[in-house]
Formats: sequence, C-alpha cells, structure tokens
Amino acid sequence: MSKITPRRTFAIISHPDAGKTTLTEKFLLYGGAVQLAGSVTARRNQRASTSDWMELERKRGISISSTVLQFDYNGFRVNLLDTPGHQDFSEDTYRVLTAVDAVIMVIDAAKGIETQTRKLFEVCHRRGIPIFTFINKLDHPTKDPLELLDELEHVLGIGAYPMNWPIGTGQQFHGLFDRRGKTIHLFERVSGGEYRAPVEIFGLHDENMREHVDARVLATAQEEMSMLDGAGFSFDQDAILTGRQTPVYFGSAKNNFGVQLLLDGYLGFAPDPQPRRSAQGFVPAEEDEAFSGFIFKIQANMDPRHRDRIAFLRICSGSFSRDMFAIHARTGKKIRLSNAAKLFGQQRETVEEGFPGDIIGLVGHDDFGIGDTLTVDPAIVYDEIPRFPPECFALLHSPNPANYKRLRDGLDQLLQEGVVQSFQLLNSGSRTPVLAAVGPLQFEVVQYRLENEYGATTRLENTDWKLVRWVHPDTDLKQLSSKLLPTTTFLAEDVLKQPAIIFANDWALNYFLEQHKEVKLSDEPWPEESQK
Ligand code: G4P
Repeated sequence: MSKITPRRTFAIISHPDAGKTTLTEKFLLYGGAVQLAGSVTARRNQRASTSDWMELERKRGISISSTVLQFDYNGFRVNLLDTPGHQDFSEDTYRVLTAVDAVIMVIDAAKGIETQTRKLFEVCHRRGIPIFTFINKLDHPTKDPLELLDELEHVLGIGAYPMNWPIGTGQQFHGLFDRRGKTIHLFERVSGGEYRAPVEIFGLHDENMREHVDARVLATAQEEMSMLDGAGFSFDQDAILTGRQTPVYFGSAKNNFGVQLLLDGYLGFAPDPQPRRSAQGFVPAEEDEAFSGFIFKIQANMDPRHRDRIAFLRICSGSFSRDMFAIHARTGKKIRLSNAAKLFGQQRETVEEGFPGDIIGLVGHDDFGIGDTLTVDPAIVYDEIPRFPPECFALLHSPNPANYKRLRDGLDQLLQEGVVQSFQLLNSGSRTPVLAAVGPLQFEVVQYRLENEYGATTRLENTDWKLVRWVHPDTDLKQLSSKLLPTTTFLAEDVLKQPAIIFANDWALNYFLEQHKEVKLSDEPWPEESQK
C-alpha cells in the first residue's frame, strides 16, 4: 500500500475559546499520544508538556507558536498542525495553512460564526482548502442547530451537510444521530471529561430508546432530521474536496462526545497529501518523484536546553531519508539534511524517513528562510509565502547601549522567523529599528524573547502609524525626500533595503498619492523582476 494514502495533514482553526485546544487534546487521546487528556485547568498547568512551550504563552494563557503533532490512529498517519488562536498571530496561522491539505473549523454552538472564524475561513476558502466543521459545546445552551447551518451557508457562503444531528441541546442534550451510520450515540454527563466518555450505540428503532431519550426532545430532533432529508441537500465528496461543501459534526470536545465520530469521519473523507503548485506547475505528491518540500515556519530557542533553530518543512514529493542531500533553491547550495527531528512539545526524536504530507523539523541551518524550497530536482521551486500588511508600528529602543549587539543579533533571528517585520527610517539619523506587525502582541513576543533568549532589555515606543507602502524601485528617492513629506509620513527601508513609506493613516496615504501621482506604491515588496 502506498505510504502516501494513509497520511492526513491538517490544522484546526477557530475563534479563540471555541475549543480548539480541547479538541486537539482529545484527538491526541485517541491517537494514544497522550494517556490522559487532562481537564483544561490541568492542561494550563502542564502546557509545556503537551503543545505549548513558551513561558509567555503560559503567562498569557494564549497559544502563540504553532506546533506539529504526529500520531497514528486506525491505520492513518496523522500530522496535526496547531495554529495560534489570537488574531495578532494570523500571519503565523496563514503560513501554517499553506502546509495543510484540509482544516477542521471549530465553532462554539452558542456563538455561531465569530470574527476570527470568518477571517480564517476566508483564507482557507480562497486557497480551496477542504473545510470540515465541528460545532462544539453542545452540552451548554446553544443557538438553534438549523440556524447554525444557515449561518454557515449564508454568512460564510459554503454548503453545509450535517453528518450527525443533535438530539436536544444544552441541559436537554441527549446525544447525536449519525445520519450515515443510522445510529444514535447517547450522551452521558461525566464530570471533567478527563477520560474517554462512555458512548453507547443504539439502532434508531432500538426499543430502549424511549428509556433514554425524552419523547418531546426526540420528536423535535426527528422533525428536524426529516426537514434536512426533505431539503434534498446531498453529501457531495467532490464539493467537499474542492471546499464548496463542509461536512458538519456536532459534539462536545470537553466531554469527549462526538469527537470520535468527527475523527473517524474526517480521516475517512479528508484528502491525502495533495500535489503542490511550483513555478513549473503542480508537483505530484508521489513517493517515486524527486524529493521536494518547502519551509513554512522557523523558530529558534524552542527548547531552553538546546537553544537552536528549527525550520519546519512540509514534504511535498518523493521521500526523505536521514543524511540525504538536497538543493536549497534560493542559494543553490547543496545541503546535507542530517539533523531532522520530529517534535512533540519539548520532546525530539530523530527522523529517519519521511513522505509527502509529513512535517520535519530541520535543526541548525541558519540559511533557511520562510518559503524556501529544498529539493533534489533543481527545476522545482515552490511559490513564495506572502506576508501580511502590518498595521501596528513601534520603535524599539535599546536603553543600554552595551546591549546593542545582542539586540541586533536577537532581532535578526526574530526577523528571519517572521515574528515581526522591521524598517529603518531614512533621513532621520536614527539607528532605532521600527518594528511592524499585524497586532501588538507580536511586539510583546519580540521584547520577551530578546530579554529571555538574548539578554537584551528593550523599551518599546508605540506610534500611531498605521500603513506601509513599498515604493517602486524606479522611483527617484532623492527627489522624493527633497520634496518635504508631511510630518505624518516617513521614508524608510525594509531589511532588504527596499524603499518604503510609512503613513500615519489612510488620509496621509491619499494625500501623498494626490501630490505624487508619478510614484507607484505597493502594499507588499515589489517582486524581483521589477528591480532590474
Ligand atoms: P481555544 O483553544 O479554541 O481557545 O479553546 P479551549 O480549548 O482553550 O477552550 C476554551 C474554553 O471552552 C475552556 O474553558 C474549555 O474548557 C471550554 N470548552 C471546550 N469544549 C467545551 C465543550 O464541549 N463544552 C463546554 N461547556 N465547554 C467547552 P475555560 O473556562 O477557559 O477553562 P475550564 O474552566 O474549562 O478549565
């Protein structure tokens, strides 16, 4: 049997607090990767031992850095990529989404579609990523399940096909009807959800049914189900695989209810590793192709005991074996991939082999950057991963000049990881870097890591600047800077010395555009071709 077919590489996306972390834990429980998926409180205290490692994450109770968890379940090799929930880290999430074949979208049944759900959904939808939906927290009062389906269809614009249906909700939640398996799974409230909750399965016409299910609740559920059947919406695997229909599962992650139905359903219907687009066209995810992959995430100092740098690579074609050589497409260098690791929280294991869909952590290579291709076939170069336009800007001061070198070294590393972007103001005589980010929590991460990993204390001066635009390389900058720019507009350059202008707000940008009709601006760096 092919090594590729049983592989499933995916991420869970959600608005914070919908239950992504809880669901991840329950999946790990099924995969045998953790013995006991502790209650959330216990997890908060032990975060470092499962999927989060940064002290800051523990302190703030948020998930910042994405992790990759691999486990085997029912003949499948599961690669689960965790994504940061907070919107300030949406760029990191976006990068992770370039490395998956499908996603599970978790929705809080009481809240329906929330802002972050919608944003993440749109990213997936644009990329045509198949989306599976888990409507969580059925044990608590919820919106009407039919209304939730309607939201999926009308707010997100995706066809929704319920794979199971809740029998009652909140205090009246009795269980789920599996529409394809034609069975009823009864819910038992067990405190804490710490162990696998017992699930009893009855046939639809089981005589015991009425003993377990309140007659009125059952009647409502049956009515709803006949409405669903009557609506004539059919399960369409093709539409699922192209992201036009989402299979919907209901349940309660905390109570470990409906989780196995979701996991089994997901693994059965989700795509195996898909071909990946390169400059030369699609590269098939086949084992007998040339080895290739791309780096979607870099993180240094994940483990204080090692203090090294790991580049996460998604294998796209061929097979990886320890110590093999590959070409680093951006520099053309031939590199021996000797130090590849699989990570589980803080634990590392050397990877001997890998196949399309797998994620490997390449330890120590300073040259690797986000979006880089590694391949044995020089014709394969994967598309770059676009950056998000920053919306927050701050000056990073070094109160102690003796620390300046440490600050520079640390900042260079964090810039390579894409934690923030950085600019240098031109014509200001100041060496103080301007940090730019999607959200201010990214600045906190920079300050925290500079201090903890590089011993450099810093002072952050927030600004009310809001936008950056890259100036076309043909522009005569001398002329531009000689015409006095308004005080809310600053000429700057990025780390690759590409000229840009930072604006305080839309008004300043529009004013500039009116005054300088000849200047071409872009909200991302100009591509190399335009720089000749
Ligand atoms: P996130 O990663 O998406 O941010 O969410 P997370 O799993 O951390 O869950 C957020 C909160 O929702 C947690 O509560 C968690 O226990 C709760 N939760 C998750 N699944 C369910 C469910 O099926 N039913 C109910 N009722 N709650 C659920 P918390 O108050 O932050 O922590 P704790 O008091 O439960 O420890």
